[in-house]
Amino acid sequence: MIKQAIIPLAGLGTRLLPLTSVFAKELLPINGKPGIEYILDECIDAGIKEVVFIISKKKQMIKNYFYNDNFYKKIIKKKKDPRILKEYQKILKYKKMIKFVYQNKPLGTGDAVLKTRKYIKDNFFLMLLPDDLIIRHNCSKSLIKVHNRYKSSVMASMSVKKKTVSRWGIFKLKKKLDKKNFLVSDVIEKPSLKNAPSNKAVIGRYILSKKIFLKLLKQKPGKGGEIHITDSIQSLINDEEKFIAHNFSGKYLDCGSMNGYIKSTLEIAKL
Ligand code: G1P
Repeated sequence: MIKQAIIPLAGLGTRLLPLTSVFAKELLPINGKPGIEYILDECIDAGIKEVVFIISKKKQMIKNYFYNDNFYKKIIKKKKDPRILKEYQKILKYKKMIKFVYQNKPLGTGDAVLKTRKYIKDNFFLMLLPDDLIIRHNCSKSLIKVHNRYKSSVMASMSVKKKTVSRWGIFKLKKKLDKKNFLVSDVIEKPSLKNAPSNKAVIGRYILSKKIFLKLLKQKPGKGGEIHITDSIQSLINDEEKFIAHNFSGKYLDCGSMNGYIKSTLEIAKL
């Protein structure tokens, strides 16, 4: 069973400037609700019991959001507003399931994952990248089902326009397992159009084996000088670890870019 999830939240959010110059991008409201709450709700609905947040000193605001008890208690004492009480109870529910670890240098997603090593208890865990919102269908829940069926690592996958391949991790597929699931033979972080093995991209939902930590310990920086989870995944595949690309249902929204962020508000308002 997958019971633990990790969420890297130390990113600077430069693509969303100026909104992120003093504010954590994951707390920006999308249709009246902070983006991170959509991600947490997806986890809860998928049966996750514990979530590890990887933040940085600069993103301390995220921890404060969940630890503002005194403020809520004072307000609720004065004003008996049932809406605020309900919101506070929701925050308390989230707070109970979150642990915080720190990544103070922006060394990449792989480095962020490594920070959670001592918290992961089971053989497999879920990772969600908070820029990637997937609506109308719980992608994490689907990945967990695929994991339970094939007992392997799984990544969410989507076909993208060929000319955008250098924005994503791109897969080479080895074998079709069924309508939505494919065995992966290679994954390359942000390849050039010339080197891209396909137009199938990794989207920010992964079920990873604990073995990834041993790879990350030795992982050299890759594209852009960062330590990429993608490179350690490739290293596990080279060791015959089974990785499945799951073509998820639901709509993908890229909340890490300004256009995508604006669009996500409009799309969620339609739900
Ligand atoms: C990350 C991953 C990349 C993946 C993408 C999905 O990139 O490194 O492999 O395709 O998320 O959104 P980033 O968005 O951090 O540049």
